[in-house]
Amino acid sequence: MNLKDLYIDFFVSKGHKQIPSAPVVPENDPSVLFNTAGMQPLVPYLMGQKHPYGTRLCDYQKCIRTNDLESVGDTTHHTFFEMLGNWSLGDYFKEESIEWSFEFLTKILNIPINRLGVTVFAGNDLIPFDEVSYNKWLSLGIPASRIAKTVDDNFWIAGDVGPCGSDTEIFYFRSDEELPEIFDVQDERFVEIWNNVFMEYYKDEKGNITELPKKNVDTGMGVERTTAILEGVNDNYLSSIWQDVIHLIEEISGVSYKGHEKSMRVIADHMRTAVFIAADPSGIKPSNTDQGYILRRLIRRAIRHAKQLNIDINSDWDQRIAKIILKKYQSYYAELKENAQVVLNVLAEEKQKFNRTLEKGLREFDKIIKNHNDIDATHAFHLYDTYGFPIELTKELASEKGLQVDEQGFKEKFRAHQELSRTASQGKFKGGLAGNGEVETKYHTATHLLNAALKVVVDKNVHQKGSNITSERMRFDFSCDHKLTEEEKQKVEELVNKWIQEGLEVTVEEMPKDRAIASGAECMFIEKYPDIVTVYSIGDVSHELCGGPHVKNTRELGTFKIKKEEASSAGVRRIKAVLIEK
Ligand code: SER
Repeated sequence: MNLKDLYIDFFVSKGHKQIPSAPVVPENDPSVLFNTAGMQPLVPYLMGQKHPYGTRLCDYQKCIRTNDLESVGDTTHHTFFEMLGNWSLGDYFKEESIEWSFEFLTKILNIPINRLGVTVFAGNDLIPFDEVSYNKWLSLGIPASRIAKTVDDNFWIAGDVGPCGSDTEIFYFRSDEELPEIFDVQDERFVEIWNNVFMEYYKDEKGNITELPKKNVDTGMGVERTTAILEGVNDNYLSSIWQDVIHLIEEISGVSYKGHEKSMRVIADHMRTAVFIAADPSGIKPSNTDQGYILRRLIRRAIRHAKQLNIDINSDWDQRIAKIILKKYQSYYAELKENAQVVLNVLAEEKQKFNRTLEKGLREFDKIIKNHNDIDATHAFHLYDTYGFPIELTKELASEKGLQVDEQGFKEKFRAHQELSRTASQGKFKGGLAGNGEVETKYHTATHLLNAALKVVVDKNVHQKGSNITSERMRFDFSCDHKLTEEEKQKVEELVNKWIQEGLEVTVEEMPKDRAIASGAECMFIEKYPDIVTVYSIGDVSHELCGGPHVKNTRELGTFKIKKEEASSAGVRRIKAVLIEK
């Protein structure tokens, strides 16, 4: 049996209910791109809300952390990983939690006690020394010399604000060297495998700490790391979790893992993460914003490393790797089965898109650095705009040559470009939709619906001539040779409202300009658009070249109402309309 199954069986036997893994894209939390810890989807319950499954829960949660995406390639980093967790929501507390962790490690996984070391909270002005945990560990047979006390490493919070508390961490001596008597937290031969957080506090924006309504337990154990430890390998990618993928990459590339570790690890890791993002029910597609941008970066970085291994990029290497990953995880995560084809298509399309420019882009890169000079903002932007090189890829290529990239300058150019053309996709490096409020965003999407409705109701040759949006209303100018009749206005309104009620998904895709035009996407001034454009689609009813931003689903729009229809100039009519909140 594998670690996940052993873990769930064990905690179910201790009265826990298994809860399903939440999607990788958080459903109700726009402040983060991905779930980064098992506890994240449980925050409302840790804060006191009643959980439908009760007070003892366990699961394996899909997590994605992209803050050190560039570190992937070493022996331990992964962008996607699975976290095992068990929770008490105001049920058991420190003693039972420690006891069960100990039992699972020593009786189920058969880890010898003398390989373990633990840390407990040492105490500060606000929170006292965690004597209960300390004594519990002693009573279980962990000697005092193997219990370290710290302050900073034994307090856990996700970010700056939220439920939090002191914790006790469990470490494993991962080395063939002689076992030391004393556990020193600085000794890197000891690696953390499990973190039991005693969440009894809430930290607010000002840093104040108050007590939560209930004392909770939140534990987390990384599947990849623990599996590697149990299997006695010092490189996570040598564990059974990765061996099939690595062997396949060896077969495809015709070279062995040894000597090509970095590229193989990057490909294995990034392809797995891309599979999970593309399969997520949120329907993320590669783009230049948010989760879509991460997905794009992962796929493009994997492609570049595949190229380094001399893999024929145009072959079906990506599909083969994705298939083995899909198959392996399908029994744990239903969406990988349901959306298998979506995943394969996302990979194939993004690969096709990037392939067209990758080769030329790499040659251009070599030209730029031929005098071994650093890369300025203009060149970095050129590589992005013309060859689709994410800035992080340019940085990676540069650092392999010991060169720097003017990233700050790149970002400035990027923003200037966005404002100029409004068509380059929203470059969201951090933070929100610059200058676009929620209401304006809704009007923006409504504009696309109105444009599409006019074509259906009035004339398929109606075209947008201009638009203007404030937080109070939208104004839309369009080519038309007559004043709209009452009936036409009413039908347009009804059609827009019908689409709103249907809850159509708004999706965004990047493609070469020619393809966008050939596919019939709507646009105003084609010559103003760059070679690669973004196309926003609303269900099947609208496809427009546009820089966004838009709502995710038309349901968010409320009720659409035409206020006025009048002449604007010769052959151009103007509609003023509002959205009324539901
Ligand atoms: N939330 C803690 C962590 O992520 C324990 O699950 O380490």
